[in-house]
Amino acid sequence: MDEAAAALKGARSVFVLTGAGMSAESGLPTFRGAGGYWQSHRFEDLASPQGFARDPQLVWRWYNERIRAYADARPNAGHEALARMQDRFERFTIATQNVDSLHARAGSRDVIELHGHLREARCTKCEAPRSLEGGLPDDELHHTCGGMMRPCVVWFGEQLPEGAWERAAQAAMDADVVLVVGTSAVVYPAAALASVNERACIIEINPDAGAAGAHLTIREPAGVALPRIERALRVGRTDGR
Ligand code: OAD
Repeated sequence: MDEAAAALKGARSVFVLTGAGMSAESGLPTFRGAGGYWQSHRFEDLASPQGFARDPQLVWRWYNERIRAYADARPNAGHEALARMQDRFERFTIATQNVDSLHARAGSRDVIELHGHLREARCTKCEAPRSLEGGLPDDELHHTCGGMMRPCVVWFGEQLPEGAWERAAQAAMDADVVLVVGTSAVVYPAAALASVNERACIIEINPDAGAAGAHLTIREPAGVALPRIERALRVGRTDGR
């Protein structure tokens, strides 16, 4: 923890890669851990273009549940600590694999949503957008043009949103410190961002084994470790006093 705080104190540019564990303390499930989505669901059914083509109702039921859970969730102490940290550095970029908008709700500004978001849906035919506030009712699955509405997320086998990879890779390459928080780092290309910069000090925050190749590993939940780091940057102590 002290070494992590020291590395950040000397940094000009910081890049943060986050995953589902970042939002675990907001009460949202992860994908691969105990109680994670992929323990009880098949990603091919719920998060792929083929699954959507087979059974759009099933896919929308799952996303509607998640939209409701996000509306009830609040940013946790980890999201808030990252938002407080952003003005301490010349450059501070968060690239998240999460689609829950919790970084922005905590006040983080430069957030790259690698896997899209659940604030909007778009028509598969004419691209017309619509808000997903409150979810998508069953009888509105079809757009008036005849196309299907789909969530603005990235499914397995799809491209990242336009420009997202370029912006994130550039911020990662520019960083003195890379923070890897709450991700198993197994889904590419996002996972590659944890290690593209061989010059940076890579700090991982994850209570369990997560991404390989970090220089410093903090085996604590994000909502505990990040506030401690942020406090150390402000007052110079990591012991919470
Ligand atoms: P995973 O579920 O694969 O990994 C979550 C990570 O968070 C695990 O390594 C946990 O140990 C860690 N974790 C759990 N609680 C934590 C806490 N309180 N603080 C910090 N870490 C904690 O989720 P992702 O890596 O985000 O993609 O998964 C990547 C992608 O796979 C997702 O964006 C999604 C999924 O399939 C798509 O659907 C395209």
